[in-house]
Amino acid sequence: MCDDELFLTAILNCSRSELLLHPVSLTDEQTKRLDEMRQRLAAGEPVQYICGFTEFIGHRIEVGPGVLIPRPETEVLVDAVIKDLKAIVRQDLLVLDIGTGSGCIPISLAKEFKLSRMTGVDMSAEALAFARRNARLNGVADRIDFIQKDIFWFLDETDQRFDAVISNPPYIPTAILPSLPPDVRCEPALALDGGPDGLHFYRFIIPAARRLLKPGGLLALEFGDGQRKELENLFVITGGWDKISIIKDNAGKSRIALAQKQDQ
Ligand SMILES: C[S@@+](CC[C@H](N)C(=O)[O-])C[C@H]1O[C@@H](n2cnc3c(N)ncnc32)[C@H](O)[C@@H]1O
Repeated sequence: MCDDELFLTAILNCSRSELLLHPVSLTDEQTKRLDEMRQRLAAGEPVQYICGFTEFIGHRIEVGPGVLIPRPETEVLVDAVIKDLKAIVRQDLLVLDIGTGSGCIPISLAKEFKLSRMTGVDMSAEALAFARRNARLNGVADRIDFIQKDIFWFLDETDQRFDAVISNPPYIPTAILPSLPPDVRCEPALALDGGPDGLHFYRFIIPAARRLLKPGGLLALEFGDGQRKELENLFVITGGWDKISIIKDNAGKSRIALAQKQDQ
């Protein structure tokens, strides 16, 4: 979809096919809005912020300044998790999403597993406001607890045990942030900055997940292009993992790690 088509679907609150099948002439007010949207785009703002929403695995997710825009790689992560969890016959799964942002991950999983309960943790109040609204819009708010906490505290404190722990943590090395494209720099640094080598969060999440998962539970992580080796090393150093597998994104790059907590 080109940017103008996307803007028109936002202004007219319709789908692309409705737009193409029933062309309409815009009111003066709507034309003014379209011009403003084009100006924001030219100034480097992401299309999704301008429209106020994006699609994630077919679900509408509202976004705006203060929250990361869900990416296609994360759809690959969620697809892999759904496939893996479907092998478990139980439906009443307990899932933890670390750094939940817009809530795209727990919302998609709650829609797939109708008896499941999700916990989404994030320290950003702005991100969680989007996450809570998105959960309501998608009809799953009653099965997701969104918690505003620094994960470094939350993971140490919680005594809950989960069937799956999922995270798409910040993984961009700090020094790279200033050279990111302007539209990406509009997104919160908190959602992008993975520390000096981009691996800061994994060093904490992988051992913490060993403690928080039930035996046989699933850990699923998205990681950056080129971080595969270091990530596999972290699993080996932590120990206690079975069936470590790496999945490629749609561009053929290794981007998702799955691992199962050993039974004992
Ligand atoms: C890469 S974004 C992922 C957002 C969402 N899960 C997704 O995939 O689109 C990482 C998220 O982690 C959150 N975050 C960063 N540092 C955190 C911390 N120390 N404690 C809690 N959340 C944190 C950010 O606010 C951001 O929403």
